[in-house]
Amino acid sequence: MTSITISHREMRLAESVSKQLANALVRRKLQPAFSDFYITHLAGLTPLIAVLDTARLGDHNPYTSQDLLHQLSTDLGGLPVYLSNHSGIRYVILLSPLPKLPRRVDLPLDVPRGKLAIGVRFSGQPVLLDWDTMLHLAVLGATGSGKSIFLQSLVLQAIRDEMQVLLSDIDQTTFGMLEGHPNLAAPIASTPQEALGLIEQAIAECDRRAELFKAIPERPQKLSEYNALMVKQGQEPLPRILVVLDEASSVLTALGGAKGAMGQALATLGWRGRKFGIHFVFAAQEFTKDILGPVRDQVGLTLCFRVRNAQMAERMGCKRAEHIPENRPGLAISNRHGPIQTYFVEASSLGQGQKLLPSLNDLELTLFTRAQRETSGRLSIPILVGWGQRERAARQMLADWELRGWVLRDPQRDNARYITSKLAEIMSPLHGDASYRQAGQAPSNPAR
Ligand SMILES: Nc1ncnc2c1ncn2[C@@H]1O[C@H](COP(=O)(O)OP(=O)(O)OP(=O)(O)O)[C@@H](O)[C@H]1O
Ligand SMILES: [Mg+2]
Repeated sequence: MTSITISHREMRLAESVSKQLANALVRRKLQPAFSDFYITHLAGLTPLIAVLDTARLGDHNPYTSQDLLHQLSTDLGGLPVYLSNHSGIRYVILLSPLPKLPRRVDLPLDVPRGKLAIGVRFSGQPVLLDWDTMLHLAVLGATGSGKSIFLQSLVLQAIRDEMQVLLSDIDQTTFGMLEGHPNLAAPIASTPQEALGLIEQAIAECDRRAELFKAIPERPQKLSEYNALMVKQGQEPLPRILVVLDEASSVLTALGGAKGAMGQALATLGWRGRKFGIHFVFAAQEFTKDILGPVRDQVGLTLCFRVRNAQMAERMGCKRAEHIPENRPGLAISNRHGPIQTYFVEASSLGQGQKLLPSLNDLELTLFTRAQRETSGRLSIPILVGWGQRERAARQMLADWELRGWVLRDPQRDNARYITSKLAEIMSPLHGDASYRQAGQAPSNPAR
C-alpha cells in the first residue's frame, strides 16, 4: 500500500467536515451511521470518504438522493459532495474546491512513440492513448471551441510517429499548411465527394492489407503483430494510417446521411480499419442521432468541446459539455476521462512542407550518430552494451527500431542489423535545423 501525505490543514478540515456531515444528517432525521472516515488520493485530489454502515440505515433511498447530496454540500459551505454506491454507500467530499485546468497547455515534444497525447487532466497528468488498442474518435464542438487545433495536434503527432495521414478539410482552414506534405497518402479533400474518395481509399488499403495478413501462416490479428513478423523476416513494416474528417456532419449530410454512400463507407472502415492500423477521427459542430448512428459503436473515445445543448453532450457520453464557457477554447469533456484541457499547437509547427522529426530522444540520437560514424550503421546488442547501454535497454531499443523500419537485418552480412536509409533520411540535415528544434533536439551529424 502506498502511504499518502496529508497536511495539518487537511486533517483539521477533515475532522470538522466529518462532524458537520453527521449533524447535517441528524437535522434531516437521518442516521449518522458512519462506520469509517478516511482520506485518500483520487485523480490528483484529496477527498474525505465517509462510509455509511448500511446495515443500520433502514431505507437507503433518502441517503442517496441528489437532493440530499446538494443539501449536504450547502451545509458544508459549498464543498463538492459525491456519492459512491458501488459497494455500500460512501460520500466523497472534496476538501477543496475543484482545481482549475490551465487555459493553455502546449503539446509536449516528448510524447512516447506509439502513443497519442490528447491533453491534461485536473491532476496535471497527461491523457495518453495507445494506437494499438485505440478505436476511432468522434469530436464535437461549437464554432471556435477548439476542434481544429485539436485535430492539428493529432495530425502533428501522427506525422512525428511516421504515420500516413488522409485529411478532409472542406472549409480549408484546418490543414491547409500540410498541402504537399510527404506523409499525406492523398491530396487534402476539399469537397464531400473527395472526402468519400479518401474513405474509399482507406477501405481499399484494408483490402490490400487483408491479403498481406492472409499470406502469413501465423495469421496476425493486428498491425503490431503483422509488423513484428515482417521485421523478423527483414521486411518493411506497414505504417499506421490516420484519417481525419473535419466538418464531418456536412460531408455526411451532403452524401445522403447515415444511409448514404459516406455513412456506409465510414461504417465499413469503422469495423475493418482497426485491425489493419487504420484509424479515423471525425469532427463536427453537431451530430444528429442519424449521423452518429452507423459509427457510434466503432468509436472508442468521444470528446466534446463546448456544445450547444445538453442533449448533444449526453448523446456523446460527455455530460455537462454544454456548460463549458465560450472563453475556454480547448477545454473538453471526454467520455472516458472527464474534463481535459486539450493541447495547443501553433499552426506554424505543421508548417509548409516541413518534415517533422519523429521523437527520438537524446540518447537515441547519440547512438544513431555514433553508429553512422563508427560502425557504418551497424548496430547490435553487444555494440550498444559496449557503448554503455544496459543489455535490456539495448535489446528493447533495437526491437523498437526494427519495428519502425529504422534498422533491418542484413542476410548478406550475417544477419547483423543496419540502420536503414529510412532512418538516415529522417535524420538527414536536408530537413533543416528547424525540424530538429521542432522535436526539441540538437542537430546531429548527417547520415551517409
Ligand atoms: N487547446 C487550446 N488551447 C488554447 N486555446 C485554444 C485551444 N484550441 C483552440 N484555441 C483558441 O480558440 C480558437 C478557435 O479554435 P479552433 O479554430 O480550433 O475552433 P473550431 O472548433 O475548429 O471552430 P470552427 O468550428 O469554427 O472551425 C483558436 O484560434 C485558439 O485561439
Ligand atoms: Mg475548425
